[in-house]
Amino acid sequence: MTTANTRASIPTAARVHRFTYAIRNIVAEAQRVEAAGTRVRYLNIGDPVAFGFKTPPHLVEAVARALKDGRNGYGPSAGIAPAREAVAAEYTAKGFPVSADRVFITAGTSEGIELALSAVVDGGGDVLVPMPTYPLYTAVLAKLEAHARYYRLDPGRGWMPDLDHLRSLVTPATRALVVIDPNNPTGAVYPASVRRTLLSFADEHGLLVLADEVYGDLGFDGPVEPYGLLDPDAAIISFSSLSKAYLAPGWRTGWMAIGGSPRLDDVVAAVKKLADGRLCSTVPMEYAVSAALQGDRSHQLAFREALRARATLTVDRLRAITGVSCVAPTAAFYAMPRVQLPPGTTDESFVLSLLRATGVLCVYGSGFGLPAEDGFLRIVFLAPLEELAQIYDLMAAFTAQYMNA
Ligand SMILES: Cc1ncc(COP(=O)(O)O)c(C=O)c1O
Repeated sequence: MTTANTRASIPTAARVHRFTYAIRNIVAEAQRVEAAGTRVRYLNIGDPVAFGFKTPPHLVEAVARALKDGRNGYGPSAGIAPAREAVAAEYTAKGFPVSADRVFITAGTSEGIELALSAVVDGGGDVLVPMPTYPLYTAVLAKLEAHARYYRLDPGRGWMPDLDHLRSLVTPATRALVVIDPNNPTGAVYPASVRRTLLSFADEHGLLVLADEVYGDLGFDGPVEPYGLLDPDAAIISFSSLSKAYLAPGWRTGWMAIGGSPRLDDVVAAVKKLADGRLCSTVPMEYAVSAALQGDRSHQLAFREALRARATLTVDRLRAITGVSCVAPTAAFYAMPRVQLPPGTTDESFVLSLLRATGVLCVYGSGFGLPAEDGFLRIVFLAPLEELAQIYDLMAAFTAQYMNA
């Protein structure tokens, strides 16, 4: 008997190497900086709770009640009926008619996206994904051994999709178009004309539209309409969750709503099959969905105002730094400024140097798929205004030094 190899590392799958998750990966370096005694300001993860925004009490009560009432068993794989009905009623009231039997309650928007992509894309298939992107799409497509085909968002036009570029990417293997609107990482909201063009483009090519609307209630001017309102017969799946506008990201509770078009009947059946395979999402938290969608939403008014004030400060202060430009966000809690980098440097080296010198942690644009030499970075501006002001002081002093080094 030979035991020669039994202590060798267990090999890992190649798919793991096909994506990186910069938003979390960069934290390892931040922890080293912290261990060396510098206070780190974490502007990398879009978690409002981490910055003191509170989950509305009536949601907490709904979950606490469910726990006390012993709702601790498995639930239906598609979600409990009151949650599915509340989601259907919410979309229908907003002009996108959805029936409860086409709603699935998921472990956040994230699981909904994974279920939908798994249901429609085979290995080798193509999916059109915005760039800069939200890295989950790259990660899921890598797992499915499918290809992300990245269409450009144009900072020169307020981060609107480059529609000519999008059109040039379609192949016979293309299955779906991902739209993130309101957008992470750019904070952009697309006007109805752009949305209509995206929908008719998808229609023309028989593509499923995956509408990531997780920031839909966080437009600074009020909730943004769902895509389905523009064409209720379009082949659309909308995704959202309690994570952002209901301030409960740790609950991992969200939903997907599949449009009523008969073209989507097979997709509903495929998603149901996959959902059966993972049994159900977190049952006690599902009780918060109807509480959220049918209860008091006044926290959203306050949250949107807080976000608008932070966005204004962010844009004003960043634009005042020589060599920095920034498109003003109109929703969510992200800004994507651009630093005119000295030749030979990258966004990652800028971000790491900024972190080591000041403790300010942002994510480099190349973590969202942008060219490293373009000098983009993403800032999460959820910190209190006074703290943001200090952070932008630190960034201004550091950037001046970096440019002149
Ligand atoms: C565009 C986008 N989609 C999906 C998600 C995942 O959200 P959830 O917590 O609902 O899974 C996020 C989280 O930051 C996001 O920004």
